[in-house]
Amino acid sequence: MGKPTDPCTSPYHAIIAGYGAYVPEKILTNDDLSEIVDTTDEWIATRTGIKTRHITTDEETTALLATEAAKKALKTVKLKAKDLDLIIVATITPEMVFPSTASFVQRAIGAKNAWVFDLAAACSGFLYALSIVQQFMETGCMENALVIGAETLTKITNWKDRTSCILFGDGAGAVVLQRADDSRRGIIFSTNYSEGERWQALNCQAFGSRYPSDKELDDPDKIYMEIKGREVYQQAIRRIVEAVNECFDRCGLTMDDVKMVIPHQMNARIIESAAKRLKLPDEKVYMNINKYGNTSAASIPIALDECARTGKIERGDIIILVAFGAGLTWAANVIEF
Ligand code: UT7
Repeated sequence: MGKPTDPCTSPYHAIIAGYGAYVPEKILTNDDLSEIVDTTDEWIATRTGIKTRHITTDEETTALLATEAAKKALKTVKLKAKDLDLIIVATITPEMVFPSTASFVQRAIGAKNAWVFDLAAACSGFLYALSIVQQFMETGCMENALVIGAETLTKITNWKDRTSCILFGDGAGAVVLQRADDSRRGIIFSTNYSEGERWQALNCQAFGSRYPSDKELDDPDKIYMEIKGREVYQQAIRRIVEAVNECFDRCGLTMDDVKMVIPHQMNARIIESAAKRLKLPDEKVYMNINKYGNTSAASIPIALDECARTGKIERGDIIILVAFGAGLTWAANVIEF
């Protein structure tokens, strides 16, 4: 399991200074999918809320998406890449086994003074990364950081499995975090959890030490993502509700104080059920899964970028980010934007 951090009492705060997102151009519709597997637009839209998803070509990789999102985020804050102290790429579909995807981003943007690494916590990865940066900034050890969520899930999708191939899309979102000691409070609270007991609910087993490169897989489908949809569905609702309630309790907030809850986009029905249990009004729960599908670690920063660019959240607003995914993992942050 895990432990929340205490709400921020440090004189320093980690502010979300810039944001950006990038998705590949190519779009795969539900009708396109119905030509590949036995499904319909109606089934997918009703059960998941997804209508389309953006997918990469063979040439487009995770580092490319991450770099494009990073460049956009840096532009909004007018920060030079060489002034970054840290880059974290949250991803479960990295550029390669090693080096990290973050190494490729560092090289592409010229962030030569940063230390960089990838963080593998699936759909919760972006939020885990925010809480790591929060700690470094609150202790005064870091000034500028770039956190990216980037995924090319369609590269590990089993296009013969209709229960999973309809769910996922590719994309990247990024934020620039800066240390500040003024009244703008940035990340106020973070809470992170894991439950390794349930690792089998969502996994991709190939490409690691359990299945060495020179050993044939006992099941060739282990190169693809495997999901136990029902189990994930139920656990996701439970953990999202718990995490958001914890944010309210620990920060002394009510729904009236919060402008927007931005959940990981995994399934519109999961989000709606959790929102109903939390008694959140529709206009305070952001959803864009209809356009992108589930992009794992990229989904929250893509949604955050959309909310900020369209004025759905403005500077000074309190927002809650909440994620749930493979591991199992779940996390939430309260942020004064
Ligand atoms: O970010 C974390 C990753 N996200 C997830 O793991 C997703 C979480 N789970 C879900 O979103 C939902 O469980 C799914 C969308 C995956 C499945 O929806 P469901 O309402 O839980 O459906 P189900 O698995 O209970 O299946 C109901 C029926 C089955 O047919 P029978 O056995 O009732 O005849 C399935 O074979 O729907 C069938 N089915 C489909 N039919 C048409 C499953 N996938 C499809 C499909 N098109 N794509």
